[in-house]
Amino acid sequence: MTAITLGSLLYEGKAKRVFATDQADLVAVEYKDDATAFNALKKAQLAGKGGLNCQISAHLFELLERDGIPTHYLGMPAANWMHVRPVRIVPVEVVIRNTAFGSLCKQMPIEPGTPLDPPLLDLYYKDDAFGDPLLTDARLERLGLLSGDQRLELERLALAVNTSLRRFFASLQLQLVDFKIELGFTASGELVVADEISPDTCRLWDLRVADAQDRILDKDRFRQDLGGVVEAYGEVLKRVQGACPPPRSSK
Ligand code: TMP
Ligand code: ASP
Repeated sequence: MTAITLGSLLYEGKAKRVFATDQADLVAVEYKDDATAFNALKKAQLAGKGGLNCQISAHLFELLERDGIPTHYLGMPAANWMHVRPVRIVPVEVVIRNTAFGSLCKQMPIEPGTPLDPPLLDLYYKDDAFGDPLLTDARLERLGLLSGDQRLELERLALAVNTSLRRFFASLQLQLVDFKIELGFTASGELVVADEISPDTCRLWDLRVADAQDRILDKDRFRQDLGGVVEAYGEVLKRVQGACPPPRSSK
């Protein structure tokens, strides 16, 4: 492959920057060390976090690809850089919960840790200015973001992601409590999994550890000031690397 030249900054989010390149069908994503929570009310720099999330995401996108789930991922040119297909992100965050925790337990009378079978799928409107509110069917329809068929496809893909990730993490002695994904349309109109899949966007509990705080290996360590955030992400990467081939490099 010929070397890819970076172009202009297309978009900067809280944890990543997206750049155009000299190839129309490829954009470059830089994973940053910035950590934010509670709609960026809480902020910090965590050295090494960007590289860890980029590597974990690359492995997980390749896992999904092996399981027949389409994603935007193309390859990893450097430790905190990812090449992806350009997509039009659907401004809907899909959250799947296998175990009750987090906002669910603040909004409903349900004990943290309760297994959810079948998993609970919630859609949120991705807009920081509104605080990413939970969507109802009627509100989603009113926003006109997705046709009925597109919504069914979005949910089908998200549930397939859950099946794939849950099985994989369980094999690493990690419990996939819940996660958020974003999806986007490619130039040809295909809906694919996009954004990132990392301990920033998943809740992962170490099944080898009984203590309710010590077992947390995800961004809740940052949200709850538990410390050891980068070390926890490093542990996730170590287990993932132990079970996967090295991520595809692309230059
Ligand atoms: P919640 O319990 O706060 O609703 O979070 C559910 C899951 O979604 C959890 O794995 C963290 C993830 N998440 C994000 O990735 N980004 C967000 O902005 C929020 C609120 C949650
Ligand atoms: N991602 C959101 C933020 O950066 C919220 C969160 O993950 O807790 O503020």
